[in-house]
Amino acid sequence: MTDMQSKISNPKSPNRQMTAKTNIVGLIGWPVSHSVSPPMHNAAFTELGLDWGYVPLPVPLEPAERIGEAVRGLRALGLRGANVTVPHKQAVMPYLDWLTPAAQAIGAVNTIRVEVDGTLSGDNTDAPGFVADLREHGVDPIGKNVIVLGAGGSARAIVYGLAASGVLDIVIVNRTLAKAESLATQMQALFPNCQIVAQPLAKPLAEAAEQADLIVNTTSLGMTPQIAGLPWPATIPFRTNQAVYDLVYNPPQTRLLQKAAADGVLAINGLGMLIWQGALAFERWTGIAAPVDVMRRTVTEIFVHR
Ligand code: ATR
Repeated sequence: MTDMQSKISNPKSPNRQMTAKTNIVGLIGWPVSHSVSPPMHNAAFTELGLDWGYVPLPVPLEPAERIGEAVRGLRALGLRGANVTVPHKQAVMPYLDWLTPAAQAIGAVNTIRVEVDGTLSGDNTDAPGFVADLREHGVDPIGKNVIVLGAGGSARAIVYGLAASGVLDIVIVNRTLAKAESLATQMQALFPNCQIVAQPLAKPLAEAAEQADLIVNTTSLGMTPQIAGLPWPATIPFRTNQAVYDLVYNPPQTRLLQKAAADGVLAINGLGMLIWQGALAFERWTGIAAPVDVMRRTVTEIFVHR
């Protein structure tokens, strides 16, 4: 065997190549060209010497039938699974054979597994990924009072994750009150031990802010290119012992997190959630504990060099 042959057949080699035996997973989304998921997962596979590979699977919004063809194509082409990202997290659902309770309740799938019998299962690792990152930052959700800013797709996963992890009270604050109310009602029915209420953006936040242990921003305010956006009133200071979590990670320090840091409270961006949702997807596919540190190092290096 030549040096090159031994390099490419060794799964631990960074020059490893895919063969007919390689287990393939990928990322369904549009666009996917800037995603950190392929390098993050491939670094994890290499680290553990697994003969797995992760590829981008760009699927356009039009024509509409493409997404169903793509999901069924996972099985037809012998892939082991996929992550799903914007704008397809809801659209993939009708093509799956079964959904985990989390995916069903959140109404979005970010992880598909092709089972050995060819059935397609849909899961959501955004919710437990968020909670895992919170815990990693020393925030235990049990018994906490939380304000969730926003009531869109991301908020659904966050509220589910928090309520499922023993949070006591959630106030969902949103510009469009009806969306917050509908999310609160649906999640309240699932989690009777957690009080979940909706509040319009217009109502002063001071009272809820007094009670809150944790404030989570799920809106796009503050995200590139809306970096001037601040989803929290500049006049309400954060209190000692509160923590502020912004799902945004681009830029890594949003105006919200700058304010939190200036007020002296724990400020966490969404990079850890990105890593943890990936780590949990990795575990769903391979059945092996993910090398989270390697995944984090890979993602951090990419962001440093961007
Ligand atoms: P995602 O899947 O990332 O959550 P989404 O479902 O489009 O995206 O939800 C975006 C959230 O950000 C919504 O809660 C939205 O408020 P509305 O329900 O009122 O639309 C919120 N949002 C976006 N831009 C906003 C702005 N300029 N001011 C206040 N809220 C905003």
